[in-house]
Amino acid sequence: MPRPPEHPSLAASLVPDDPTLDDLVAAAAGCRACDLWSRATQTVFGAGPEGADLMLVGEQPGEREDVEGAPFVGPAGKVLDRALAAAGIARERAYATNVVKHFKWTPRGKRRLHQTPNVAEQAACRPWLEAELAVVRPKVLVALGATAATSLLGRGFRVTRDRGRFVESPLAPYVLATVHPSSILRARDDDERHLAMEGFVADLAVAASVLDGGDRASAGGEPEP
Ligand code: URA
Ligand code: SF4
Repeated sequence: MPRPPEHPSLAASLVPDDPTLDDLVAAAAGCRACDLWSRATQTVFGAGPEGADLMLVGEQPGEREDVEGAPFVGPAGKVLDRALAAAGIARERAYATNVVKHFKWTPRGKRRLHQTPNVAEQAACRPWLEAELAVVRPKVLVALGATAATSLLGRGFRVTRDRGRFVESPLAPYVLATVHPSSILRARDDDERHLAMEGFVADLAVAASVLDGGDRASAGGEPEP
């Protein structure tokens, strides 16, 4: 038997015409457009309401996400949940996804250590993110961390310098980047962690300020009609 080609199709050729999110999930489950599928458990596609006005974009699924098949369900996801709540954003209103849909890792003893996806892998996976954007059409897009920020906003983007303010982008009417929630988990002590969390929440609050609805009401915004 001849060996199958390594990357049988580009992700773009797998995206169905005029898809729903469910169509995309089904199509992406079989994606082999880069090498990352081969060592991961499953495709971890984005999740959230089809009409979400807020899209959160991380780097790639982590160890827990790889096992569970859903984005931001592990330790970084828990930090994200707390930060969203503190910023007055209901977690359920957001569509959460990643630049790359398979977990890239390297063995470290018995553990699987996260590895940052390279530029080629990010590019290979981009059609899925484009398709998610086309279906969800969020009003606000938040890039979480340097990988997502540079992938979406250009190599010259610096999260440390440019975080927490809206930048011009064709991706959505309002686009900003902030730190990755896992950076808060890496803080060296409680003080540093507290400060990092405050900064993260402040950036998310900027995103919240342009979202409609009652989420901000409890934080002093206008009451719902
Ligand atoms: N980190 C990410 O960037 N995405 C996830 O889904 C989980 C952890
Ligand atoms: Fe396809 Fe993206 Fe997975 Fe690569 S990482 S196989 S492009 S879904």
